[in-house]
Amino acid sequence: MADRKPLISGNWKMNCNHFEAIQLVQKLSYGLTKDDIEAVDVSIHPPFTDLRSVQTVLEADKIPIALGAQNCHWEAKGAFTGEISPTMLQKLSVSYVICGHSERRQHFGETNEDVNRKVKAILKHEMTPIMAVGETLEQREAGEMEDHIVTQVLEGLVGVKKATVGELVVAYEPIWAIGTGATATPDDAQEVCALIRSTIGEKFGADAAGSIRIQYGGSVKPGTAPELMAQADIDGALIGGASLVPEDFAHCIQYRLR
Ligand code: PGA
Repeated sequence: MADRKPLISGNWKMNCNHFEAIQLVQKLSYGLTKDDIEAVDVSIHPPFTDLRSVQTVLEADKIPIALGAQNCHWEAKGAFTGEISPTMLQKLSVSYVICGHSERRQHFGETNEDVNRKVKAILKHEMTPIMAVGETLEQREAGEMEDHIVTQVLEGLVGVKKATVGELVVAYEPIWAIGTGATATPDDAQEVCALIRSTIGEKFGADAAGSIRIQYGGSVKPGTAPELMAQADIDGALIGGASLVPEDFAHCIQYRLR
């Protein structure tokens, strides 16, 4: 199996003004050791208005945490009132951009086609997409989960080169587990992450499947992180609520020690 370095990402969603963001990142850095950061890649995804402040703190204090964004438009510039372009993010040294988060799909009508445009735009600007996929409880109960996930993965990656797919991150986030406290069991999460990897393998080849990092997301907490991270096809976590509590996020990153 390819040697995939785990990636643990904090999705702050619409929380923290830029003052609070600076405090949060500083507190987080106090809780992490050099060993933690060597063993695990860590990214944080503050709101757009915090990015410049957080970038400045990360650079000034030499904190080896990657800066991430929660979304972006696919065009580099233009008449798209209220949108943020990948060029703007790249200029702020953003490394990872979440796209297709279920809250964007649900509340803002993002389609697989939109997500695909974003994936390609993020790659074009030399950042790494974290493409989120996941099913609703209704889809799971109706036995539609597999089809839904496979479609989201394949339509999200249309036109991405085989050689590039392995560099991406896919986040499996069952919608029913996001912010609800209901984590998928490690077996359930593993099953879907394995499905995502085999789907990538069939379409893009074994190298891509072996290299792509697959995160699990949905109510990950310090107590659940170790067992989830122990699964063969889970290479990281996308963490919402617990990433806003510095001690909890640090403990998730330190899952190996627990
Ligand atoms: P949660 O959010 O950890 O609060 O469930 C995860 C996410 O939506 O990325």
